[in-house]
Amino acid sequence: TDHYAVVGNPIAHSLSPRIHRAFAAQTGEDIRYEKQLVEKDGFAEFARNFFTASGRGLNVTVPFKLDACEFADELTERARAAGAVNTLAKQDDGSVLGDNTDGAGLVADILHNLHWPIRGKKVLLVGAGGAARGAMLPLLGEEPALVHIANRTMQKAEQLVAEFAGHGSLNGRGAQNSRGSQNGCGALSAGGLEFFPGGFDLVINASSASLGGELPPLPPEIIGPGCKAYDMVYGAEPTPFMRWARDCGAEVADGLGMLVGQAAESFALWRGVMPQVAPVLAQLRTELQ
Ligand code: ATR
Repeated sequence: TDHYAVVGNPIAHSLSPRIHRAFAAQTGEDIRYEKQLVEKDGFAEFARNFFTASGRGLNVTVPFKLDACEFADELTERARAAGAVNTLAKQDDGSVLGDNTDGAGLVADILHNLHWPIRGKKVLLVGAGGAARGAMLPLLGEEPALVHIANRTMQKAEQLVAEFAGHGSLNGRGAQNSRGSQNGCGALSAGGLEFFPGGFDLVINASSASLGGELPPLPPEIIGPGCKAYDMVYGAEPTPFMRWARDCGAEVADGLGMLVGQAAESFALWRGVMPQVAPVLAQLRTELQ
């Protein structure tokens, strides 16, 4: 039996053990998966001991994703771009690989569970913290027509745009901010929450506002015709952002599918088999209600 765990602080309410045990049952993989509370300054020591003592892989959640990034011997491209690691995997040579499956989980949920298109669409990403950064590379990989990043602190949105201006489908097209200065066609752009360059097809809330029951002060005009709105946060009730977007006429979804999706990507990295997300997501959804 191979040993896995999810590490965080707090960790009591993590759904990851349920998700991974369901994946294991579904695929016939023989694994043990626990949750582990670790002191705020204790990640590296815990991880070192875990992998020395035959642990095969860790999921890493708040506040340890940067510690995990430093701990890894080697990073995948998407982990390097995210600057954060949510999955550690022991490799055959004994070294530990760091990956970030959050963005892939988001994109998989949008495309394969919700059946919302991304290719050729106008996408608004709200927030410019760790969650937004992790979504950038997988999102750009789907070749949206444009991605605009709106953040309460506009400077952080501009930083993110500058960092990703050379990536993916927006390669070489440059970046602009909503004040109008630009150095290309502006397919990747940044602004504050009050600014917007038109209605969007897909709005993704990657800010942590929903965690505090708050709503980023966005103008209703961002919700274009047929708009879809996604909140990375999930819960038994719709978030304030989801209620607001629904009132503006958007189709809405929460981040439970992203949670199961990132777990599936981690499981696939560890076990070499991709589990089915839909039945596990449906089961969790009924348990959450
Ligand atoms: P995470 O890892 O969840 O992304 P983070 O890196 O601390 O957490 O980033 C939080 C993001 O949510 C930031 O973009 C933050 O905006 P600022 O850069 O201006 O701080 C955004 N955010 C948090 N609370 C918010 C609120 N009440 N309204 C709007 N944006 C909010």
